[in-house]
Amino acid sequence: MRQMRDDIKEVLISEEDIAKRVKELGIQITEDYSGIDDDLILVGILKGAVVFLADLIKEIEIPVMIDFMSVSSYGKGRTESSGVVRILKDLDEDIHDKHVLLVEDIIDSGLTLSYLSDIMIRRGAKSVKIATLLNKPARREKEVKIDYCGFEVPNEFIVGYGIDYSEMYRNLTFIAALDEKAYS
Ligand code: IMP
Ligand code: MG
Repeated sequence: MRQMRDDIKEVLISEEDIAKRVKELGIQITEDYSGIDDDLILVGILKGAVVFLADLIKEIEIPVMIDFMSVSSYGKGRTESSGVVRILKDLDEDIHDKHVLLVEDIIDSGLTLSYLSDIMIRRGAKSVKIATLLNKPARREKEVKIDYCGFEVPNEFIVGYGIDYSEMYRNLTFIAALDEKAYS
């Protein structure tokens, strides 16, 4: 059986460093939202943000709701953003008058998150902020204000801790750069 390790070029962020940073983000989010009167809802972007969101909510000490949205940005097996954002699964909750915290795995071109923040504002969210585990600024096409960022990563194809290549490698406990031979 092929091992995931064989396709990894370099481990970029260890499991321990992720856990430490997620804890810090949870403390910061708890502080920033502790005075609010309205609900806070964390909106995870499927599927990549699932692992991050699951760990993050456990580090937040105020009541939060969670919901998920699925959008298409990368086609199966592709490593380039198409620039077209399509909603594949919408929210179950009404976010009107709620504080929305969008939770993303990685911001690359910025197209997905800028589009999603606009949607949340138009739907009447009380506030919209962005939490991303990873920021890959090298290929930014659309400026997005990131309120909570785990780590900055180089312009490599990243996998692990929820982040996939062609639906694989999400179950790695660390964050790694994928070897070019695994996708070329
Ligand atoms: P953006 O619209 O270009 O910012 O795309 C963000 C989305 O592209 C993220 O939610 C990821 O799903 C995906 N993505 C961007 N960079 C990578 C990467 O290095 N590995 C895996 N997925 C990525
Ligand atoms: Mg994604």
